[in-house]
Amino acid sequence: MFKILFLLMALSSVAFAQDDQQYSYDPENGSDINELCAACHGEFGEGGGDGEYPRLAGLPAKYLIKQMHAFRSGQRSSIAMGMYATERELPGNDLQDIANYLAEKDLMTKMPVVDEDMPALEKLHIAQRVFNVARFDGDFSLGEKIYSGQCARCHGTDSSGKGSTPGLIGQYTDYLRLQIQSFQKGERKNKRMEKYIMPLSKDEIEALLAYLSVGDD
Ligand code: HEC
Ligand code: HEC
Repeated sequence: MFKILFLLMALSSVAFAQDDQQYSYDPENGSDINELCAACHGEFGEGGGDGEYPRLAGLPAKYLIKQMHAFRSGQRSSIAMGMYATERELPGNDLQDIANYLAEKDLMTKMPVVDEDMPALEKLHIAQRVFNVARFDGDFSLGEKIYSGQCARCHGTDSSGKGSTPGLIGQYTDYLRLQIQSFQKGERKNKRMEKYIMPLSKDEIEALLAYLSVGDD
């Protein structure tokens, strides 16, 4: 009996080892590919253009891969992204490598206390990784009520994401507004979310955006 169990365990560990061999994350390749993405999404995945280019740093790898496939198939349309998402641009393991690379990028929301004697260039490098969404004024308490009642179950109570569902705090206000509108118009689709997004009025959206904008303060 024990022999059989042992044999089964040995066999399953071989199977796991083979699975691991199929893909192993190559951070250097991720960093090389990021040079291409950085032109729009910033060196640290912090995004730019006031949200014309969304923040990618810290989004779940699975989510990033799913979006790249959506751009690839045209299910999610973006002229800017379409050409970077293709199989030709990201062959083999490139898509997984860039997704893992961006998912583990950690931005700071505040400038840490640094040594007074620290060279200016070093301070600048730290400051480049500080990213805090600008406060957007509005009805924060209405935003909080809608968020905790309807969005938190999937996007997380602190809105930093849950599993492969993206976080919403730390993302540009203008970008979030555009995505909500895009779901409402049916241009971007997600079956599970439709019933929560569709009924939101313009005022409710603005209140949500105000609430989310201070989440990273
Ligand atoms: C020429 C500018 C440009 C470049 C270069 C670019 N992107 Fe984008 N990307 C955009 C724009 C614009 C959007 C927003 C699209 C929209 O509004 O739906 C976007 C959106 C995305 C999203 C969706 C984010 C989300 O929260 O859903 C992902 C993922 C993404 N880009 C990954 C990448 C990766 C990886 C690269 C490099 C291989 C890259 N992008 C290069 C312009 C660019
Ligand atoms: C049933 C789970 C669920 C609920 C509830 C939910 N969401 Fe989502 N949301 C998702 C998933 C999953 C995605 C990713 C969709 C995709 O893969 O394109 C998403 C994506 C988004 C995006 C796009 C993020 C990006 O980076 O592009 C926004 C904005 C958003 N949700 C806002 C909301 C708001 C506001 C609410 C509450 C009114 C809400 N969601 C409720 C599951 C949910």
